[in-house]
Amino acid sequence: APLKVTKICCIGAGYVGGPTCAVIALKCPHIQVTIVDLNKARIDAWNSPDFALPIYEPGLVEVVRQARGRNLFFSTDVDKGIEEADLIFVSVNTPTKKSGVGAGFAADLNYVELATRRIATVATSSKIVVEKSTVPCRTAESMRTILEANSRPNCRFDILSNPEFLAEGTAIADLFSPDRVLIGSLQTQEGIDACESLKQVYANWVPPHSHCRPLVFRAVQLAANAMLAQRISSVNALSALCEATGANIDEVAHAIGYDSRIGPKFLKASVGFGGSCFQKDILNLVYLSESCHLPEVAAYWRQVVEMNEYQKRRFSKRVVDTLFNTITGKRIAVLGFAFKADTGDTRESAAITLIRDFQSEKALVNIYDPQVSHEQIWTDLQEASPLAPLNTIKKQVTICKSAIEACKDAEAVVIATEWKEFKDIDWEAVYASMNKPAFVFDGRLLIDADKLRKIGFTVTTIGRPS
Ligand code: NAD
Ligand code: UGA
Repeated sequence: APLKVTKICCIGAGYVGGPTCAVIALKCPHIQVTIVDLNKARIDAWNSPDFALPIYEPGLVEVVRQARGRNLFFSTDVDKGIEEADLIFVSVNTPTKKSGVGAGFAADLNYVELATRRIATVATSSKIVVEKSTVPCRTAESMRTILEANSRPNCRFDILSNPEFLAEGTAIADLFSPDRVLIGSLQTQEGIDACESLKQVYANWVPPHSHCRPLVFRAVQLAANAMLAQRISSVNALSALCEATGANIDEVAHAIGYDSRIGPKFLKASVGFGGSCFQKDILNLVYLSESCHLPEVAAYWRQVVEMNEYQKRRFSKRVVDTLFNTITGKRIAVLGFAFKADTGDTRESAAITLIRDFQSEKALVNIYDPQVSHEQIWTDLQEASPLAPLNTIKKQVTICKSAIEACKDAEAVVIATEWKEFKDIDWEAVYASMNKPAFVFDGRLLIDADKLRKIGFTVTTIGRPS
């Protein structure tokens, strides 16, 4: 019979493990949830008395405030967390491999394997182990083999796959009412029972109709992310055409979205998609396709990433072209550094590429983002230009405390992230403080271009002719 889960451990207190298991704790007060991580600074931040959590998500603080100390705990004691739990989520990172076979494409499964081995070493009782990280097909089998080869007598391990579809910036809303919950298991009685145990956890708040379709293809997450990214690259490809032909991408996307087969969501042209997953998951799919000897399929998906790179390059070039073909010594204010609004996450953010391009054109760059820490910005810029000493970068780049401060004495403002507050800036004051002619480049279709033109700005918008 299915086990009734009373103690959950989550290995990995990141963007997925943290919010996901905090919401489980909130919705299941009868279950003790412990989120563990090797990164002490991260755990300390989760435990900080003033709720200065390591990640920013709207609504997250309220969830943690209600559950922390009640039935939600954060700890660096990974072993204790494993030992106590009857169900363990593995939510560790799976970055793109940097070297070895599949470098640049395949997922690095080292962290998943280390976590799995730790479970095998430490567990003294049976566990349900749930793979939550985005991993390629057959990883569950590898986990099963490792666990079974190392387990003690009377310890059984049931492995489930439970991909997470939350998007950053809306993680809490997505977790409160997910479109679907997928759980994959072996079709043995034990596997079906384990699946039922996890279903019962979700049943505390997710209505049964969105429940637990059997997971036949573990790559469903890669497929879903690839389809989403493909939509953005398609709309971005059209945005280039709109700029060239005099059409308006927002109107085109809106009209396309009326077709109920296409739908209106996720059709916003932008300076390029970012985030920790789209590029990584597509490259992974490319790798999978090549491993299956399907070069045309691989090339098709690779093009989605190439279009995204092109979109970023094209946007930087448009800035330079518009500023009379040189930005040397000119001050450019970049508003937004996160990869999308409502998150402090900067992984693969388009802003990083733009700023690197501006740096190589010898511009001076002012940066403002409401959530990203200064330290994070320096780390990202250093990684983007590994050959430049940080001191040299700091001569060219200034991090500012407000949008107004960033725009002062600038020649141009570049909107890289769609933070709502950029819409509501006092643009009259910004205009007064800038050098003239004053330029605005909207990479996110955020601002009212006509209003800004009336103030005096020269406005360039993605997907619209200049
Ligand atoms: P993250 O880097 O924010 O968090 C991973 C955490 O795991 C880190 O804090 C790291 O210290 C910890 N960790 C690594 N190995 C460990 C070990 N052996 N023991 C204990 N802790 C360990 O990553 P993330 O963004 O949360 O992503 C996690 C997984 O979820 C990835 O596979 C990702 O593809 C997938 N995913 C991410 C999102 C998203 O929006 N970020 C959404 C769905 C799925
Ligand atoms: C994405 C998926 O939406 C989630 O379902 C999935 O769980 C997650 O990846 C994952 O596997 O990690 P996320 O990357 O957090 O979530 O955020 P998205 O909202 O998908 O945005 C990704 C990027 O696309 C952002 O840079 C965003 O600005 C850009 N975007 C999005 C556009 O340029 N246009 C759009 O219309 C939508």
